[in-house]
Amino acid sequence: MANYLVTGGAGFIGSNLVKYLCEQGEWVRVVDNFATGKRENLAGLEKGIELIESDLRDPDTARRAVADIDYVLHQAAIPSVQRSVEDPLRSNEANITATLVLLEACRGAKVRRLVYAASSSVYGDQPADSKVETMTPSPQSPYAITKLTGEYYCKVYYHCYGLETIVLRYFNVFGPNQDPTSQYSAVIPLFITAILNDQQPTVYGDGHQTRDFTYVENNVRANLLAATANKGLGQVINIACGTSYSLHDLLRIINSVTGKQIAPIYAAPRKGDVRHSRADISRAQELLAYRVEVPFEEGLRRTIEWYKTKGANTA
Ligand SMILES: NC(=O)c1ccc[n+]([C@@H]2O[C@H](COP(=O)([O-])OP(=O)(O)OC[C@H]3O[C@@H](n4cnc5c(N)ncnc54)[C@H](O)[C@@H]3O)[C@@H](O)[C@H]2O)c1
Repeated sequence: MANYLVTGGAGFIGSNLVKYLCEQGEWVRVVDNFATGKRENLAGLEKGIELIESDLRDPDTARRAVADIDYVLHQAAIPSVQRSVEDPLRSNEANITATLVLLEACRGAKVRRLVYAASSSVYGDQPADSKVETMTPSPQSPYAITKLTGEYYCKVYYHCYGLETIVLRYFNVFGPNQDPTSQYSAVIPLFITAILNDQQPTVYGDGHQTRDFTYVENNVRANLLAATANKGLGQVINIACGTSYSLHDLLRIINSVTGKQIAPIYAAPRKGDVRHSRADISRAQELLAYRVEVPFEEGLRRTIEWYKTKGANTA
């Protein structure tokens, strides 16, 4: 048994991590300022966790959060490319400043390791078929810059101060607790809830853009592997399925699983969005013994079921 801190634990990925850790009987602390996170994501888990409702940019909060913690799973951030295009300063504060404050707090504490949630957006529009960690990053949005800077800080804290860090570059993650109601929501919750509600989903661009959509359970498992792996320190590791699907594929499968035939509406492509994204996951397999637990189509079926049980609240 160990003590875990999940930063951003009220968010989509963070709350899935918290749930899994609680199920494993681990001791869990969450720090979240509810900037984008939701209390309902922690419903039923409150008794098993310690919650610090505060902002990680505050050094006292960060110090309290890491006290007596073995493993920090750092998910807190303001995600979304679009949000960062509209408000780059806010993304910078939440994604860079808060990460640096947290790393400083870890340095002064007995934290054994910090696992950082990074983003495939740092690859930008690399022409290669699949994104491999040795590629030179090419961020195309303020969000990608903030996530890349966080990676660099994690690496530097390992090399300068010996703080064990591992960077996990997530690709497009989806699953339960992902918010479908915000203007910044990701494509899968938007498409599923539109189709369940007999509305036409909006496709930005021609729909042929592809993503390595990854069911959240894979990311959860990867974090746990990274926390205790004896390889990969100070390194960047892709976490995804290694497969890619277009937005048209996505619509076809959602329509087929839900028994509908709803066509999309098309709108102009959005600034900062990349065209194709698929991960090379061989480094994760080699260093973390990572395996894809839930492939894309199975994850999509589970996610559709989850949104169905949420019913009208998702509209
Ligand atoms: N969802 C994806 O597809 C995806 C892809 C790549 C990387 N990531 C990364 O994974 C992590 C989790 O993403 P998510 O989709 O769960 O996002 P989310 O918005 O659901 O969760 C982020 C959480 O961080 C909290 N937070 C933000 N700023 C904070 C601060 N200053 N102090 C304390 N808490 C703060 C929010 O309230 C929220 O609960 C992020 O770091 C994100 O950049 C996500």
